[in-house]
Amino acid sequence: MKLTYYGHACFQVEIGGKKILFDPFITYNELARHIDINSIETDYIFISHGHADHIADAIGIAKRTGATIVSAWEIHEWVSKQGIEKSHPMNTGGKWQFDFGTVKCVVAQHSSGLPDGSYGGNPMGFLFLTPEGNFYYSGDTALTLDMQLIPVWANLQFAVLPIGDNFTMDVQDAIRCADFVQCNKVVGVHYDTFGFIKIDKKAAQQSFEAAGKSLLLPAIGTSIDV
Ligand code: NI
Ligand code: MN
Repeated sequence: MKLTYYGHACFQVEIGGKKILFDPFITYNELARHIDINSIETDYIFISHGHADHIADAIGIAKRTGATIVSAWEIHEWVSKQGIEKSHPMNTGGKWQFDFGTVKCVVAQHSSGLPDGSYGGNPMGFLFLTPEGNFYYSGDTALTLDMQLIPVWANLQFAVLPIGDNFTMDVQDAIRCADFVQCNKVVGVHYDTFGFIKIDKKAAQQSFEAAGKSLLLPAIGTSIDV
């Protein structure tokens, strides 16, 4: 599966010819200045929770591309009020069969207020079950025992996890999470964007290696095979 990293927690995967974008935050990301947001084409935009660093560019990209937004019920209501017609509401524990595969919404331990102060419902992670492989995007979250349920539902090809600490898991907790979800290939996100979440990338990758796992940190704007 091809994965393109757009900085912070924003990435895109391609499954069965469909492009699926996650947590778009590009315009306001200093580190993603070289990304031409208008060059991003997508069929779906999955939003893990309402914080600005996950939703800032969602409305703009959805209006330009006609992509369907998938998010918690409360975020669905919020984007609908802003003129988004193609929006699919979900909530924690539920799954839905899309044209590229099935997505199950799973628990994330975080918070979820929208940029204007509206209530954003529960933050969520997403478990993707597809003919091209399964993966887990945890969204912003603490390490939680709920992650031990992931292998009950799926054998993972890779996981996308926050590693920046302060707001989410740090590197050590992301390694524990990878153990919980029984996956050795992790794409790290949610690091370096702001002062609070700067990390030592080399040390992070060495920690994963010492645990028998690999931490992939693609440069912003590049694609990798996962
Ligand atoms: Ni957040
Ligand atoms: Mn965040």
